[in-house]
Amino acid sequence: MSFIHFETIDSTNTWLKQHWRENENMTFVSADYQSQGRGRQQRRWQSERGESLMFSLLVKDDVLLEKYQLISLVTACSLAEALEGMKISDVMIKWPNDVYVGGRKICGILLEGVSQPQLQCLIIGVGLNVNQKRFSGDYLHEPVSLYQLTGHISDVGKLRDQVYQLLIRNLEALKSGKDFSKTFQALDYLQGRRVRALIGNQSREVAVIGINADGSLKIKVDNEETDITSGEISFHV
Ligand code: BTN
Repeated sequence: MSFIHFETIDSTNTWLKQHWRENENMTFVSADYQSQGRGRQQRRWQSERGESLMFSLLVKDDVLLEKYQLISLVTACSLAEALEGMKISDVMIKWPNDVYVGGRKICGILLEGVSQPQLQCLIIGVGLNVNQKRFSGDYLHEPVSLYQLTGHISDVGKLRDQVYQLLIRNLEALKSGKDFSKTFQALDYLQGRRVRALIGNQSREVAVIGINADGSLKIKVDNEETDITSGEISFHV
């Protein structure tokens, strides 16, 4: 396991995408500031210096690569566990990879793979809102920071160590066969909701039944149940 920290970088995910070959499994790359931070669906992910916990973890282990459908959820469970450990309540996971507190987004996860053509590695990118006093601009999902929830500034470095340890422990447990389904199902923010979702490029009304044990999501569209994977849908909630 290696640690690399940048004061400034374009994006920790982009850096690992460029350097995955020469870096070992579980290389952890963090930054104080990203000039080109990226979110899901080609969105930008911006944060002032020192206000967020931003990191990417390189996964090259074959057993974990086979379980790629569960990696985002286990990462989200690890972030939820870290927040609950700080006595934050009402923490939920919005499938497939956001962490919400009280209906607002505190953490986003960007999972990227490198395939040539088989999957060579996964890069788990995590952005957690920590010390923002306020958010300006347009957000698709209303954000919240740890500061707004607790009223005090947190030490991002300490948080990084805690999250790193939880994440590594949970990924090792996943590798050894631990079943996380009860954990992520108990935290499922979308379960039982009727929401608008983009399926392909069509906006549809769907009823969410819940997260399946394999990490896919069971939804009902036009009275028909179907299981979808994360690439196929995005929610307007
Ligand atoms: C999302 O909410 O859409 C995902 C946001 C992921 C942001 C993190 S910050 C560290 C890593 N580097 C990036 O460029 N993005 C991820």
